[in-house]
Formats: sequence, C-alpha cells, structure tokens
Amino acid sequence: MCGIVAAVAGRNVVPVLLEGLRKLEYRGYDSAGLAVLNGCPSALLRLRSVGRVAELTAQADACSAAGGTGIAHTRWATHGVPSERNAHPHLSGGLAVVHNGIIENHEALRESLKAVGYVFTSDTDTEVVAHLVELKLRTIPDLFETVRAALGDLQGAYALAVMREDDASRIIVAREGSPLLLGMGEDGHYAASDASALLQVTRRMVYLENGDCAEITRAGLRIVRGDGTPVVRAVVESQLSADAVELGTYAHYMQKEIFEQPDALANTLEMVGNARSLQPGLFGADAEAVLGGARQILILACGTSWHAGLVARYWLEAIAGISCSVEIASEYRYRDSVPDAETLVVTISQSGETADTLAALQHAKGLGMQRTLAICNVPESSLVRETALRFITRAGPEIGVASTKAFTTQLAALYLLTLVMAKLRGRLDAATEVQELKALRHVPAAVQKVLALEPEIKAWAQLFSHKQHTLFLGRGRHYPIALEGALKLKEISYIHAEAYPAGELKHGPLALVDKEMPVIAVAPNDALLEKLKSNLQEVRARGGELFVFADADSEMVESEGIHVLRLPEHYGALSALLHVVPLQLLSYHVALVKGTDVDKPRNLAKSVTVE
Ligand code: G6P
Repeated sequence: MCGIVAAVAGRNVVPVLLEGLRKLEYRGYDSAGLAVLNGCPSALLRLRSVGRVAELTAQADACSAAGGTGIAHTRWATHGVPSERNAHPHLSGGLAVVHNGIIENHEALRESLKAVGYVFTSDTDTEVVAHLVELKLRTIPDLFETVRAALGDLQGAYALAVMREDDASRIIVAREGSPLLLGMGEDGHYAASDASALLQVTRRMVYLENGDCAEITRAGLRIVRGDGTPVVRAVVESQLSADAVELGTYAHYMQKEIFEQPDALANTLEMVGNARSLQPGLFGADAEAVLGGARQILILACGTSWHAGLVARYWLEAIAGISCSVEIASEYRYRDSVPDAETLVVTISQSGETADTLAALQHAKGLGMQRTLAICNVPESSLVRETALRFITRAGPEIGVASTKAFTTQLAALYLLTLVMAKLRGRLDAATEVQELKALRHVPAAVQKVLALEPEIKAWAQLFSHKQHTLFLGRGRHYPIALEGALKLKEISYIHAEAYPAGELKHGPLALVDKEMPVIAVAPNDALLEKLKSNLQEVRARGGELFVFADADSEMVESEGIHVLRLPEHYGALSALLHVVPLQLLSYHVALVKGTDVDKPRNLAKSVTVE
C-alpha cells in the first residue's frame, strides 16, 4: 500500500508530484506529503497533510512550493496512526525518505539508532530508514552506495525513494517486494509505484525487479543489483490510456467501473470474438502442456478475487470434472498443506501486487508446484512475471477501492479456463463448445440489460440506509455472489453484512432474523431455486423482510415483506456474472444515500502490498 512518486527534472516538479499522488491515492489516503529541493545550495522544503492530496496541493500553492528534485507519498497507515507526524517524507539530517511497504525489523533498528543518539519524531517503521541512511552517510559519502549499504540491514518489503539536501542532482530508489518503476521523460527521470502516476510526463517505463537499487538524475538512470552489479532493464512503452484513469461524466470511479462492465467484458473476451473453437494458447505458449497435465487445481487469491475463485470452483468441478480447492492466500502461505506437484496453481488478482497472493504463489512454487497461472488485470505486474502462464483481463484501470469490473472480467477469464480444461479433458464436444462460445459472446449485452435496472435498485437503496445489519443468501455458485454482495455493502456503506449459503440459515443465522434484518437473496432460476424458496419462507416466517434478485422466468411473487426484482435474462452457468451486478449497484446507491466516500472507503486501500 502507499504510493510514492519521485522526480528529478529540468522544471518545477511539484505539479508532477501532486498529480502523481492524485493518481496513486487508490493505494492509500490516510495522509499525503512531499519534499522538494530548490536553489543552490539547495534548501529542503517538506509539506505534509492528514487530508487528501487536494489539501496538500492547497498547502503547496499557499507557499509557492517549487523545486527540480522531489519525492512524494500518499499513505495507508500500518505503523502509527494517520497523523501529520507519521506522514511521509521522514527526515534525518538533510535526508528525506518516502517508503511503501513494511520494515519488519524496525524495532531492533530503532533501538540501535536511539542508542547512538537519533531522536524519533514518528511512530512509523519508515523513520528508521532515514536515520539508518544518515548514519551510514557519515562513513560512506556517496548517497547511492550508502542507500545500498543500508538496504542490507533492512528486512521486510519496501519501495523507497531517498534524496539529500546537499545534492539536488539525484534521487536513489530501491525495490524489494513492493512495486516500483522508473519513467524516462524528455526533461528528466521519474519513479513511481505505478505507471498511471507518470503518464503525465512519459510513456517510457522501466520496471524494477526485487533487489534492484537505482539512481535517477536529470540526464539518466543507473540500476544495480543488491551486490552492486550493474543491470539493464527493458524500456517498456506503457499501453495505459491516460483517459482510462479519468472520471469523465461519472460521479464516482465505482459508478464508472460498474457501467464499464459490458466493454470490459467485451475486451476481455475479444480473443474468442470470432472463434469457433477454444485454444489453450489463450493462457500462454505452453498452456496445452501445463494445463493438460494438471491433476487438480488450487486457486489462491484475496478479497473479491477470492470470491471469483470460489465461483470458478463450481464451474471447474462441474464442467471440467477437475478437483479444485480455493484458498485465501494469507491462510495458505502459513499453513502446512499436502502438496501435489501436478497441481495447477491459479492466482487471481486485479492488481498483481497483492503481497499475500504473491507470497502464496512463492510458497506453492517452493512446495514443488510449477504449473502456475496468473489471472490478472495489470500486464506489467509482479504476479504476471512469476507464473508460467497468464491471462490478462482487459478491464482497464480500476480505481474505486471496491472491485467491480475486475471481478466480472475475472469470472469471464475463469469460465474460459473451465472450458479449455474441459476440452483438454475430453469433456466438451464440438457442438457444446460452439454454444458455450456463443453464450460467452452474449455476456456483455446481457450485463448491459442488467444495468438498466438501476432505477429500481436505487429505490431499494433508500430502504437500507438506516439499517445496521444485512444478511445475503445464495446457493451453489451464487453463494460466492452473495459473499461478494455482502463485501461490497460493508466496504462502502459500512453496514454490517454477512453472507450465508441459504441452506445454512437454520444452523445459526436464522436467530438474527427479525423485522429489522433485511435479507437479500440471490435467486436465479436454477436447480436450487425451489430449495432456496423454502429457505426464504423460513425468513419470512420470522418477520424478516426479503429482497430477492430473481430471473425473468422465475415464479417469484411479490407480496408483503417480499420485494422481487427480475433480471432480464436467465443465463445458466454464467448467471453468476449477471447476478453480481445488481448487488454492486445496490451497495453503490446505499453508500450514496449514506454519504460515505464511495471510492475511498475508510481504513481501506486498493492495492494491498503489505501482509
Ligand atoms: C483489496 C481491495 C479489494 C481486492 C483485494 C485483492 O482488499 O480493496 O477490492 O479484492 O485487495 O486485490 P487484488 O488486486 O489481488 O485482486
């Protein structure tokens, strides 16, 4: 989490730093800060704010902050409460440091630095880096060498940028476990946590690897490995469209991203646009061998991406006939499991930078599982570089913290995987393959029709805004959709929401049901509908108010205490993709009624690059 930007250029970099932070706010927004060097000899100016980047911008304007060399940071608090004293950059002597990640041995370092006289002014782990570099600078006068030496004492994850008051010509950056890239501009060089922050100045990016340390100056850049060996990293022309990260006519990114789903799905499915048959090559050059030889599947992910994996398990077992387990990455990486080398490990991640998912993948590989696939929305991400196979969802940048279009495009990718696995295992005849492809191609249009239900959903939202708790129910592959609906509601409206497989209701949660507890049911017209209806009666009999998302052809009737909204189509195996959309819209509108910060809900961040 946290976002960093750094710039050394032949112009005032303050506007570049601020614009970069604005693009990185999705990574955390507990505080923002910057430091710039100006003049000769250079004077260091530091500004910090517990508010958003807009407040930092106002501060910078008020004092006409300017300088050709600068670093900046937007924070997601891990060590120390959100406050000005804990906001980055942190200083030591004439040094300024910004950091994304966690220094795990910060307590031991803090004690040893205090023992030699350093006084700490924050509760952060980052401040030890500033003092450590300052200490080493006394014996190693070159900043690049000093930072490299200091890195040897750090344990944990970091992306760092360090600059020094008496040398405005350079900034030193380093990466270990947290994303960092360099930008090559016309008039200078830059660094940032992701490409969106630098599109304003360049499209030419250099992605650093873990263990890299680099020096950026106005004229160039220099990268070395941990042992000091120089290394050249490829220059990549970013394909990210600058428009894609603009809000346009929408009120919020979440709204924009919900409504972008038909296009996001069409783009993701473009590769099967005209196809009459499915090719394993969709997942990479070696896919036929890697997928075909898999004996079972293990899906690893976090948050919404984990929910996508849970839906996929129903598909993979029922359609492809392959055993599949789905684990929360942060649990898997720390438990003793029974590895099977012929397992296909599927990691799912919007960002491709989620620390737990990356670590779970490493753990699985360490246990001997080399058949690995990433389903990811960011082609340049760390995750994609670490798996044998990859499928890039083409949702476009997702800025809203609550994931929407990333989820539905992940589902589309996972359905493609299911069909490819089914085909490789001889469970998909040619006629069914053609039908399945046709059904997939219709998904964007089907989602478009669901979006047209917004006015009715908006009306329902009014009924939820004063509620404290909500239950979501689903069965089969729609149980994970209920989980996702509950996650969306709690994330952005702060209403406590729980999801249950409807059959579990009588084993506990029914005790919670009374007239104050609205119950939302995901009720597609599938084989489990009759059973679900019985579960809903159990709720109604206890006075619970039901909100049912049914299909066009379901016999669900509105009556007192039972509200029914019908989706335009009944969509078989793919209906999970449709049924999540009204739940996204409902959360969005409840949040609007409650007046919460939809795109930046409290305490959360989009890209969780710490454990
Ligand atoms: C955070 C985000 C969620 C996301 C999860 C996993 O918690 O707020 O929306 O689902 O991280 O992120 P990933 O990028 O790995 O999908």
